[in-house]
Amino acid sequence: MKLFTVGPVACRPEVLEEMSSQMFSHRSEDYKELHRETVERLRRFLETENQVFLFPSSGSGVMEGTVRNCVERKMLCCINGEFGKRYARVGESNGKEVERLEVELGKSITPESLDELLSSSPDVEAVAITYNETSVGLLNPLPELAKVVKKHGKLLFVDAVSAMGGVELKVDEWGIDVGFTSSQKCFGVPPGLALASVSEEALKRSERAKDKGWYFDFKLYEKYQQEGSSTHMTPPIPQILALNKELEIIEQEGGKQKRFKLYSERMQKIKQGIKALGLSLFPEPGYESPTVGCVNAPEGISGLEVYERMRERGFELAKGYGKLKERTFRIGNMGYIRLEDVAEMLQALAEAAK
Ligand SMILES: Cc1ncc(COP(=O)(O)O)c(C=O)c1O
Repeated sequence: MKLFTVGPVACRPEVLEEMSSQMFSHRSEDYKELHRETVERLRRFLETENQVFLFPSSGSGVMEGTVRNCVERKMLCCINGEFGKRYARVGESNGKEVERLEVELGKSITPESLDELLSSSPDVEAVAITYNETSVGLLNPLPELAKVVKKHGKLLFVDAVSAMGGVELKVDEWGIDVGFTSSQKCFGVPPGLALASVSEEALKRSERAKDKGWYFDFKLYEKYQQEGSSTHMTPPIPQILALNKELEIIEQEGGKQKRFKLYSERMQKIKQGIKALGLSLFPEPGYESPTVGCVNAPEGISGLEVYERMRERGFELAKGYGKLKERTFRIGNMGYIRLEDVAEMLQALAEAAK
């Protein structure tokens, strides 16, 4: 199968190979060096002076971590798809009050609506934004939204799970307090590792937080990282080796801008191919995601049918998500995909969408 999934995604052979190395203790010098190098590479990639922590979980673990460490009572969740909804559920299931800014599926969150809501809800402590809403293939205007959050002096959590690594994310310039992703998305590493940048202010909140638990306690991540370049539990060493390798490859290939250009080129090709088949993307124009194409199903065929027909042809796409299961199918543009794979996939789609 050629993977055009939305995670886990295909990984480069060199990255998979790196994972097969013999294990070593997470208290050893070998591990400390790996940890230090990976974290420093990530800090450069994210253009941040903040701490970057490695979590032995998927991205949802960090979501829960932000809520438990940094929200005392109330947060605001911006929702235009399933992952924004998940953030709100995580907040509520941890006993927090959640205000929702919810817009119709396919529409972006606007800075004006966020400004209005924050003006009328001064007791909100933190705002959660899904940068790239994977379920609908939409990129929210994060730099503009971040300005609004900072104008109101709130903490900013960014779910960058399907964005970081494929799209620019300037942590310090945009004022992101916690920005996180999972290994199995744009960095093209197998699942089992999450990573997040965590600001000074987020750490201060964590210091004050009561009942934040132990496993996702940001202050413990800070302590163990500063004292010994390690973690307070056993980390997923193979995934960290793989991530470090992928970051090294990005640097060797000419840096992150080159990587973003590759993502953009592949998505351009996918979009052109879709258009040539008479198909269209689901989100409102101007906000289409560079990492996930959410395609409206052709007349008379369900999205699920297109997905199945593509599997028969050797291509694993992604099904529509939630309410869009029948109406759409998704083409992932994350991880190890070559330009020639895109051309082959589009050829198969021309038959599958008939
Ligand atoms: C935008 C977004 N947020 C959160 C998640 C959840 O991440 P994980 O499955 O790594 O917990 C996903 C997974 O697809 C996602 O796309």
